[in-house]
Amino acid sequence: MKIAIGSDHGGYELKVFLKPFIAEMGHELEDVGCFSRDSVDYPEQAQAVTDLVLGGRAERGILICGTGIGMSIAANRKRGIRAALCHELFTAKMSRLHNDSNVLCMGGRVIGSELALEMVKIWLTTPFEEGRHKRRLALIDPA
Ligand code: RB5
Repeated sequence: MKIAIGSDHGGYELKVFLKPFIAEMGHELEDVGCFSRDSVDYPEQAQAVTDLVLGGRAERGILICGTGIGMSIAANRKRGIRAALCHELFTAKMSRLHNDSNVLCMGGRVIGSELALEMVKIWLTTPFEEGRHKRRLALIDPA
């Protein structure tokens, strides 16, 4: 799967930790930045990742800032983006099963790296259940 990933300085270290594991799982990663611990403005990375997802150049996106909150607010402004801010395994899984989340947001200052890795694994492998959930998503984003 092609995955777009982005962070601000608050999520940079967690992104650096996760990238090799995601690549090892067989996914192709496009990192839109940031590329150092220097302070940046998270809406820019959210914009870049969601553009790749909405343009079909990435199937999914992962966005990490300090809390995950700014990234999720910014990403969800885009029609067609279903960004889920998750900090444990249950919501990461349910965001795929029931919400067909196409962007996973996490807080690099909130969760540990091993938990984040397990969340990414479950999020990348859990399918959308469709059925009644498809109808509900259509109410959010009508055709
Ligand atoms: C940056 O200091 C911080 O505000 C940002 O990473 C994020 O947590 C915003 O929601």
